[in-house]
Parts: sequence; C-alpha cells; structure tokens
Amino acid sequence: MGLNVAVLANLKKNAPRFGGMPADQWDDLDSDVTINSIVAALETCGHEATFLEGNLSLVETLPRLKPDICFNICEGHWGDSRESHIPALLEMLRIPYTGARVLALALTLDKPMTKRVLHFHGLPTPAFQVFERPNEPLDADLCFPLFVKPSREGTGMGVTADSIVQNERELRERLAGHLDRYDQPILVERYVRGREVTVGAIGNLNEPVAWRVPADERAVRVLHGLRFLPPLEVDFNAYPASENGVYTNRMKTEWAHDFHCLCPAPLEPALVEQLDWLMAAVFRVTGCLDVARVDFRLDADDGNKPYILEVNPLPGLYPGLSDLVLEAEGDGMRYEELINGILAAACARYGLNPG
Ligand SMILES: Nc1ncnc2c1ncn2[C@@H]1O[C@H](COP(=O)(O)OP(=O)(O)O)[C@@H](O)[C@H]1O
Ligand SMILES: [Mg+2]
Repeated sequence: MGLNVAVLANLKKNAPRFGGMPADQWDDLDSDVTINSIVAALETCGHEATFLEGNLSLVETLPRLKPDICFNICEGHWGDSRESHIPALLEMLRIPYTGARVLALALTLDKPMTKRVLHFHGLPTPAFQVFERPNEPLDADLCFPLFVKPSREGTGMGVTADSIVQNERELRERLAGHLDRYDQPILVERYVRGREVTVGAIGNLNEPVAWRVPADERAVRVLHGLRFLPPLEVDFNAYPASENGVYTNRMKTEWAHDFHCLCPAPLEPALVEQLDWLMAAVFRVTGCLDVARVDFRLDADDGNKPYILEVNPLPGLYPGLSDLVLEAEGDGMRYEELINGILAAACARYGLNPG
C-alpha cells in the first residue's frame, strides 16, 4: 500500500503579478515539468500523488485530502523567510513533510546569517560584509576583487559577470543598483577565483560526526545515513568569456537547457572526501533534512582550498537539468530513485512506511 502524498510547490505560472515586476522576479519558482515528473516518480512507487499550489488555500485543501505526508518544494513568494511559510503552516496542521524545517529554511535563505553559523563552526566561507546603504565604509580587511550579490535570493538572481567588482567605484555602483532592485541587504564577499563545484546528498545524518569513508572506493558512499552524490563542476570553458567564470542568472535560466558541466567532477579522491565531509558538516549545522546541495568555490590561489558559498535545502529538481538531478544521474540514480529516496528519508524520520 502506497502513501497519500501531497506535492506542494509554487509554480512560476501561478505566481502573483504586479506592475513594474522585474523579469527575474520568480526565477526560483517551479515549472509544470518538475511537478509532473515528481508526481509520476511517486506514482511509479505506488503512491497516490496530488499537486497543490503552496498558498493559504492549503489550510482548507489539506484537511480534506488528508495526506500521509507532503513532498514540499515551496519557495514561497514574499518576505525574508518565504521558504519557511508552508512548513510553518504544515506544522500548525500537524502534517509530516519532506525536507528541512522552518528554522533551517529561514536560516539558509539568508546567506549572511548562514555564513555566521558556518563561521562559528569553523567551516570555511569567504570573508564578507553586509551593506544596508550604498555608502557604508568597506571593512579594511576586505580587498578587491570582491563579489556582490543579494542576501536572500537564489537561481543566480542579481548574479552576473558584473558581480565581480575591482574597485570602490564599481562596488558603490553595484551596491546602489542591487539595494534599489532587491530591497534587501546586499552581501559583499571576497571573490574566490577558481573552479566551482556543488555537492548534493540525500538521507539524514544518524550520528553527529561525518568524517569517515568506506575503505572500498567502489562502495556506495553512505556516511552515517547521508548518501553523497558525486560533485558536479560547472564547465566554465564551455561558456563565453564574457560570463567571467561566474555561474550567472543567465546560465541558470535562459541557457539552462544547454548546461555544461562535468559530473563526476575530475577531482582528486582526497578533495572529494573533504568536500563530502564539509557538505555533511554544513548539512548538520544548518539543520538540513532529507536532501541538500552545497555550493563551493575551490580557491585557485590557495591550492584549491574549498570555500562554502551557500547551502540549498530545497535544490532544484527539474528532470535532466537541475544540478542535483545531474549529480544523481552521475551516480547511476534515476529520477524516480532520487525523488523516492528523498521521500524515504522523510518517512524514516516520521516512522512512516513508504512501502
Ligand atoms: N565569493 C564568491 N566568489 C566567486 N564567485 C562567487 C562568489 N559568490 C558567488 N559566486 C558566483 O555566483 C554564483 C551564485 O552565487 P550563490 O551564492 O551560489 O547564489 P545562488 O543562490 O543564486 O545560487 C556562484 O555559483 C558563483 O559562480
Ligand atoms: Mg548557488
């Protein structure tokens, strides 16, 4: 007997419209293709799956549908904790759901706050400063080039080749533009020159320490309950030099159907092991559950030392295109296995039998 699963998401086509809406306003929301694929993947495993738009109507529709669990990928629409709105509602309704909970979703949407938590735990993340006004003085220990991005966006929103700034004038210009456009504090980081990799995992840590790998290199890498997927490297060589080696909004939207990456990334096993350990540590200290993807830059000026850029507790699940899906494929895992693996991880936490 399968479960009754409600698939909750915010579709781009259902998103609110308003006058003067910027072109990238809803770039992080989902498509019919993703939802239909998740529903089909769940049905393949014998579950009954129903899509519901993640908004206030859930207060009425969920008690009628009575799902055993929700497969939640809602990004939300408004405010500085928008990804945690639906989980908060689900907790009030006492309905189980996949993925990170309210606190972790609110935390990780805020990149500077996440970096403070990582820093507290001694995890490497680029030095940074947060600007609420364009004319705040720059900390003396931050040296150009710097990287400028919004604090609370995803899908490369506000991230272009021009995000790298070389001097005060460019910094002030970019800050003024971003503060005006995104209406939120702007994050300025040390620019990490080097390769870019992202590491996904599904499952849950069942012990606090993740530093251990199986002796057999061919064994499935399950470390204390987390299954690491092979790192994916963005192949900047396949993109015009004008993108400046940045994984830009344009690459993630307009050019997403022609994504160039290397998966598994050609990295030394010792570096993969280090990335996996860092990924697990980030997963733990930020409170991720069931699935996550952590983005890194490997510092070319410091022997490829990995720096954590951000953590995505709701990584994109577009079939055949999203980073996490490609990583799963790189591990020989089909889309259905990935989706049902996330569900199984959540079911194990709630003591539900996914069949
Ligand atoms: N400090 C940095 N140094 C170098 N590149 C960066 C830095 N921060 C971000 N980037 C580039 O910008 C991209 C998007 O940044 P990220 O923080 O991952 O935001 P998003 O949530 O949009 O994915 C990264 O994948 C990377 O290419
Ligand atoms: Mg990212």
